[in-house]
Parts: sequence; structure tokens; C-alpha cells
Amino acid sequence: MMICYNESERTFKLDTPNTSYMLGIVDEEGFIGHIYYGRRLKDADAAYLMRTQEPPFVPGKNNRERCSFYDCFPFEYPTGGLGDYRESCLEIRTKDGHAGAMLTYVSHEIFKGKPALEGLPATFGTEEECMTLRLVCEDKYVGMRAELLYTVFNDTDVITRSVKITNVGQQHFYLTKVYSACIDMDNNDFDMISLHGSWARERRIQRKTLGYGIQNVSSFRGESSHQDHPFLALLRKNTSQESGEVYAMNFVYSGNFRAQAEVSQFDQVRMSMGIHPQNFCWKLEAGESFQAPEAVMTYTDKGLDAMTAAFHKLYKRHLIRGEYKDKKRPILINNWEATYFEFNTEKLLSIAREASKLGIEMLVMDDGWFGRRNSDNCALGDWKVNEEKLNGGLKYLVDEVNKLGMKFGIWFEPEMISPDSDLYRAHPDWAIAIPGRTATESRQQYVLDLSRKGVVDYVYEAVAGILRSANIEYVKWDMNRQLTDLGSYGLPADRQGELYHRYVLAVYELQGRLVKEFPYLLLENCSGGGARFDPGMLYFSPQIWCSDDTDAIERLAIQEGTALIYPLSTMGAHVSDCPNHTVGRVTPFETRGIVALAGTFGYELDVTRIPEEDRKQIPEQVAMYHKYNDLVREGDYYRIASYSQNRQFDCWQVVNEDKSQALVTYVQVLNRPNFKSKRILLKGLDADKRYRVCFANGDAVPEPVVYSGDTLMKAGLMIPNPWGDFQARLIVLTAEG
Ligand code: GLA
Repeated sequence: MMICYNESERTFKLDTPNTSYMLGIVDEEGFIGHIYYGRRLKDADAAYLMRTQEPPFVPGKNNRERCSFYDCFPFEYPTGGLGDYRESCLEIRTKDGHAGAMLTYVSHEIFKGKPALEGLPATFGTEEECMTLRLVCEDKYVGMRAELLYTVFNDTDVITRSVKITNVGQQHFYLTKVYSACIDMDNNDFDMISLHGSWARERRIQRKTLGYGIQNVSSFRGESSHQDHPFLALLRKNTSQESGEVYAMNFVYSGNFRAQAEVSQFDQVRMSMGIHPQNFCWKLEAGESFQAPEAVMTYTDKGLDAMTAAFHKLYKRHLIRGEYKDKKRPILINNWEATYFEFNTEKLLSIAREASKLGIEMLVMDDGWFGRRNSDNCALGDWKVNEEKLNGGLKYLVDEVNKLGMKFGIWFEPEMISPDSDLYRAHPDWAIAIPGRTATESRQQYVLDLSRKGVVDYVYEAVAGILRSANIEYVKWDMNRQLTDLGSYGLPADRQGELYHRYVLAVYELQGRLVKEFPYLLLENCSGGGARFDPGMLYFSPQIWCSDDTDAIERLAIQEGTALIYPLSTMGAHVSDCPNHTVGRVTPFETRGIVALAGTFGYELDVTRIPEEDRKQIPEQVAMYHKYNDLVREGDYYRIASYSQNRQFDCWQVVNEDKSQALVTYVQVLNRPNFKSKRILLKGLDADKRYRVCFANGDAVPEPVVYSGDTLMKAGLMIPNPWGDFQARLIVLTAEG
């Protein structure tokens, strides 16, 4: 890992273990151009890639074609309005209503370590682990300074970027767009991968050809969303899981975003990522700054597996924090699908008693324990224990659960307010709404205006007060509707465009305060399932509920898409009852357990009422979790086959660091008659080691055999065709000697 500045060439070279990123300063006017991002370069002699020696040349040599220069120069951080007609990263409006900006070089600084970003989640590392370039540029006409921050890490091939804009002039101006990262490069006939979905269908992988013009994915819903994901990858046509070039970006942010690729008239690609500019307008008074969130970039020529590995390593080591960062999580049982709103102390204790006998370690009380919340149409905001349901009070319940040797967890949806709530009756102006217009309800609720300090303090005290009142060791922080009717009673007219971002900042502030006051707390974020599964939330909670769809077969695609970027340790995954509540499918209990093992693992069912043959399997599943969770949580993940693509079976693998142990999960969806065993090529093993291969389950499992890692990776392993639909096999590989 290294960042160096070549004074004579005026270029910067940023090296990660296997990649180089170069940028340079051009000409007496100080434009900052992108030079190269790709395989690691030995030398820094690539400034010619900015093409300033060919027509239209730099303005200093051909000022009559200044506009042509702006429209093709590979800007490191492009601004709009002066002649670059491609999509810009930064747009402003001056006090007089004018747009147009151009940033040019002022100074730079290279230092060890990585500064925190004020008010925002961001990756981190020590002075030994990472190095940062701060590039300062200015638009003197506007009185605007931009600080572009780049950090490289010594243990993973990523570069993180962020931007801070400061008003260094006398007059206020408005930021109407501030992206966080951009790469201008040559078009290489790319494909584009993005993640799409819906409620209960989150993060399905889509790959398509990148054509001319603008192609983007975005969210304008106030959160990262079920529908699109703050991630974009450009890859060569021949790129596969195992080989080929990939450029990818992911956004450490939980609100509106846009991830975009634009192919220009000159076959250049501009790949960019940042806060969605729609309805964004941030006023900067003289001396004020705006810190844009962090974007993570990675490049590899070794296929999607290597891209995934880079993200996983970064997030495991340099983003997730706290007590549970590297720890096994308690196996929980959540009462949502078990009871919905129909529960009381006795019901919860009956579940806990049975669960504790089976080895389950924590009871999580979901929605419905507060105010008059007996359905999902009221009481959000009234965070007072409903003692009619919880007879004896919350502390009594928690103590009783603790006496069983179990931990206790609780559900909140702190950002919300029901129109039918005491809170709304007392403070109707606390909801986000356009004054005078009846706001749109969703799940019969409104969103709290977290741009107001009083509201944030109320929310914090409501949550913290409950946590202080009993021994609560886990919180599920939910958010069940997206934002509409953007209006705040607390902001002046010229700051209404700040509401979306101020909202996200307040969520971060709340969760930051929470994990500070309750450092032992296991926080799990959630948003109507997995609508806020993003790196921003991972900074506060080491796990996020992946989807309300707990069906083992639906989960294959959801978990595949999620694991494309995020470590398995972050994916909230539970075994639920059948017929499945979302799709009505019946799958074997064993398969449900094996699929949930790829995530945090837990239960979401009424353990007192499930069939006896299912209940009997729980202690075995608990033992399986304890045996393999270290490997699943800490091991390297490889995608072997995708049911979404082959429509037959899914297969993934984890391997520990010294490659002495691996776990392969194989899920056959529909059985096909008269088929032979399937041969799969394993990955990530030590070619020189010999592995004992053991099927951990199945009726007629083959005898353990010993094969070399080399053979298993090149020639493959035979998986006998399982009998029946929705069958899963867990295969354990242990190196001999
Ligand atoms: C959301 C969550 C569920 C559950 C309900 C409760 O949908 O994703 O797991 O907590 O809210 O209302």
C-alpha cells in the first residue's frame, strides 16, 4: 500500500496490493484528470492517458476549443455547466441563481491513516493499515473549496473516496448535487451488474450490456431501498466468477443514491456514485462545509469472486465495529411469524421455555409490545410498555427469560409515528409532511421529522429509557415505510432541500448514541425486511435482517445477491415455519436450517406448535451452528453455482484462512428424474493439501473420501442427486495431517 506524488510529472499513484490508481494535474490551469485504474503498475509513467497531447489539446494550446476539451477530458471530479456535457458530480447555484463550476488544483497532502468523516459512517484503519491522499481544489469564482479524499488499505484491493465542500467565499451558495466518486475511463464493451428487487425479493442480480448514454440505478425513497441497491459493477463481456475485469462501487450511505454509468460519444465511460440529486439542495453559508458520504471502489482482473472478497474483507475488518464484530451471535428466536400481534407474557415465556430446552439462546420480542399496538395501524411513537399484554411488566419478562439462561431482545421502529398515536395527537408537526397538504400514509404511518433536534432527543430517550429499564441485550431497529411528502415544519424554505440528508444524518446520530451508551448491545437493522441493507447501517449494526421472505428457496437468490457484496456474518437469516408465510411453500426443515446457516442463524416460529419431527431437529441444527459458525462468519466465501442462473441448484462454499477446513452448501431445487450426480468444481482450497470430504447430512450419504485440493478444484466433487425437491446437502472438507 502506497501513495506517491511525482513532482515533475505532477501525478499521483495510489497502490493497493494488486491494483494502481493514477490521477494527475494538467497544465497551468490545474485541471485534475483521471489517468488509470487497473492492474498494479510498476512505474508511474502513464500521464499520457489523459490524452492532452492530442486534439482538442488543453485550453492553454487551443483556447478556441475549450468546450471540446471540457467535454472529453477524463475529469477526476467533474463539475457541471461550463462545457462538460456528460453527467457531472457537482452542481451549485450561487446566491444570484447561476450554475457552473470548475475545480482546479490548489494543494495536496499525503498521510498515514484515515480521518473519520464528520457525522457519517465510514471505513477506518490504523496508520499501519492505510494511507490517505487529500487533494484540495477550488473554484475561485464561486468561492468554493473541494477536498477529495482517497484512502488505500494494505490488506484489500479497495480505494475509498469522499468529498468535502467548503464555502470559502463571502456569499452563500447552494449545492444541488454532490457525488462522492467518479471514474472516467475508456469504454471496454462492458456489461453492468446491479441489484434489484422489491419487498420479499431483495437484491436480485441483474447483468446487462452497457450501451451508449446514461444507465443508472437509484433510490429516491429516503433509504437505500428494496428496489435498487447502492452498488454498481462494470465488467468485461468475458468476466465470470473466477476471471476477468471488474470495476465496482458501493456507497457507505443509507439514503437516496444514484449509481451511474454513462457511455459518451467518444467511447468513454463515466462511472459515478453519490447522493441522488433530486430534491437535494444544501445551503452553504460562508465558512460552512458539507461532507459527502464515502464511496468504496474496487478493481480486479480475477472475476466476481475477487470483487466479493475485496468487499467482504474491507467490511469485516474496516467497517463493522463493536462487541460482536468478530464474535458468534446468540441463536435467537423471534416471535413475529410465531404470534404477530397476538401475544402476552405467558405466551412469550412458553416459547422461551421450550426454546431454551432446545439450545436457543435469546428471545426477541417483536412488534406489538407498546402502547395500544395490537395491529400495524396505530401507536408508533408511544414507546410505553403495554402492561395489559406484558402483565408483570417488561423487567419481569426479561428477568424470567434470563432465568432460563436466555438473553432478551426487543423490536423498535423508532423513526415512525402513527396518525393514531398519543405522540401524533400531541405533536402533529413532528411528522414529515408538506404543511397544509395531507401526507401520504404507508402501512398507516408517517415518518418522524428527524431534522428536528427535539424529535431526535425524544426518540433517543424513548428507546434508551426502555433499554435502561431491563437487561435487554439485542435491538431490532426497524423502518417500515419510505419517505414521501418531503416537508419539515422545522426548516426554513431555503433549507427544505436538506431534509432527506438531514434525516439520514439523524438516524446515524441516534444509532451512534445508542451503541455508545449500550456498547454490549447487539443491534440488528431492518427495514420491512432488507430495504436498508447497506454499508452505512453496517457501521452501527454487525447484522441486518436480509428479507421478510424466510422461504429457503426464495432466500437462495436473496442471499446470493446480498453476499455478492456483504459478508455472510451480516445477513440476518432465520428458520421459519411452513407453509411459508410469504410464498406458501413447504420445504424440509433440514433445508431451512442449512440455508439459514449461511447467515446469522435463528428461528422465527412458534416452537411450541411446530411438528414434533421439526422440533426434534432443532438441537442438531443448534449443534451444527456452533460447529460451523466460526467458519461461516470468518471464512472466505465463494459462489460455486447460482440457482438464479441455472434454474436447478445453488451452491456456495466457505474456506478458513489456513485452508484447513471448508464447508460446501448444495441446494437442489426441483428434483429431475433419471439424472446422475452433479460434478462441482470447488474453490479456494490448498492445491497441495489432501482433504477428507464428509457429507454432514442426507439419507444415503457417501462414505468419507480423501481427495487432493488440486483435484477437487480442477476436476471437481460429485454430489449424488438427492431424492426429493428442496433438498440441501452440507459437505465438510477437512485437510489431513
Ligand atoms: C417488518 C420486519 C418484520 C417485523 C415487522 C413488524 O416488516 O421486517 O420482521 O418486525 O416489521 O411489524
